[in-house]
Amino acid sequence: MIGKARAGFEVSITGLGVNVPERIVTNDELAQHVDTNDEWIRERTGIRERRMAGQNEALSDIALPACRDALAQAGLDAKDIDLLIVATVTPDMMFPSTGAILADLLGAHDAAAYDMTAGCTGFVYALAQAYGMIAGGLSKKALVVGGDLLSKLLDWGDRSTLVLFGDGAGAVVLEPVDEQGFLGFELGADGGGGEHLWLPGSGSRHFDEPEKAIKMNGREVFKFATRVLVQSAEDILSRCEVTKEDVDVYVPHQANVRIIDHATKKLGFPSDKVVVNVERYGNTSSGSIPLALRDGIDDGRIRTGSLVLMTGMGAGLTWGSALLRWTL
Ligand SMILES: CC(C)(COP(=O)(O)OP(=O)(O)OC[C@H]1O[C@@H](n2cnc3c(N)ncnc32)[C@H](O)[C@@H]1OP(=O)(O)O)[C@@H](O)C(=O)NCCC(=O)NCCS
Repeated sequence: MIGKARAGFEVSITGLGVNVPERIVTNDELAQHVDTNDEWIRERTGIRERRMAGQNEALSDIALPACRDALAQAGLDAKDIDLLIVATVTPDMMFPSTGAILADLLGAHDAAAYDMTAGCTGFVYALAQAYGMIAGGLSKKALVVGGDLLSKLLDWGDRSTLVLFGDGAGAVVLEPVDEQGFLGFELGADGGGGEHLWLPGSGSRHFDEPEKAIKMNGREVFKFATRVLVQSAEDILSRCEVTKEDVDVYVPHQANVRIIDHATKKLGFPSDKVVVNVERYGNTSSGSIPLALRDGIDDGRIRTGSLVLMTGMGAGLTWGSALLRWTL
């Protein structure tokens, strides 16, 4: 799916909040559980540390402060929100949805609230959904949450996945604005490749395997990721008639610094245009892009008028890009 934003009906991000669990887990700490070491992890992934939620913390606990900060920046009260979408593969539970839980905790009593799943691409998919509902006239003010606690799905005996993932969440408010915000979206999925990154025992399909942990074919996912990050970015830029030189800030999904470097080189973006924070958080799945947006704002690269290209990819296999003129 690819499309330009509806002309004359501008929608943008008017508030952003992020939050991560307090606990920092270093590479050395993981090396106490599996045969790995800090040097290997930093060289092959760029990750130095990640955050991990406590046993009694669920996604709504981590996402709630992010939602409050996003609403505060937008100058809105939760009761103004009529749509709340949570992109995640680690909801508090299958139902009630984390969207409904957050709507209740926030006091967004008039909001349609639900969860959606598109692996690590979830945040970009949810942005596109919320944009579509606002542009179509169904919603006036939407809260979009991207967040995951992948630490809850890790096999602490599998070094090939244990070292990659971390926990975090972000939230953005989307509203109609006067100047151009979103320019367009590109979203895709390849269920045929889904077997390379999957979670057995998590749904209605019966598996004999009793454990419920992430399974991954790292090399296949690496090849997929480097391909789609480039293709999706090129497709959305071409559809929106924007050149690579026009892009001010590139915010790719933070999975592995080698994947990001590969895509950045292929796309021809100078490294100072690329937001990278995987070293501090690891791969936080749907939390990754909002956390990177926060860092891009804080270091002064994302400012009013910046053309921001976000591209996610992950389980599904899925990918997606959003192109946005930053209006905040
Ligand atoms: C997982 C990943 C980091 C592995 O890096 P790699 O350079 O491809 O490494 P390989 O799989 O070729 O493994 C190289 C060696 O390191 C070993 N190894 C794997 N994980 C290790 C770890 N955590 N510590 C130490 N050694 C490790 C392998 O067993 C292998 O050993 P061998 O040569 O004796 O067989 C990389 O494939 C990757 O990032 N894939 C994408 C994953 C991803 O981003 N998933 C989420 C997408 S949203």
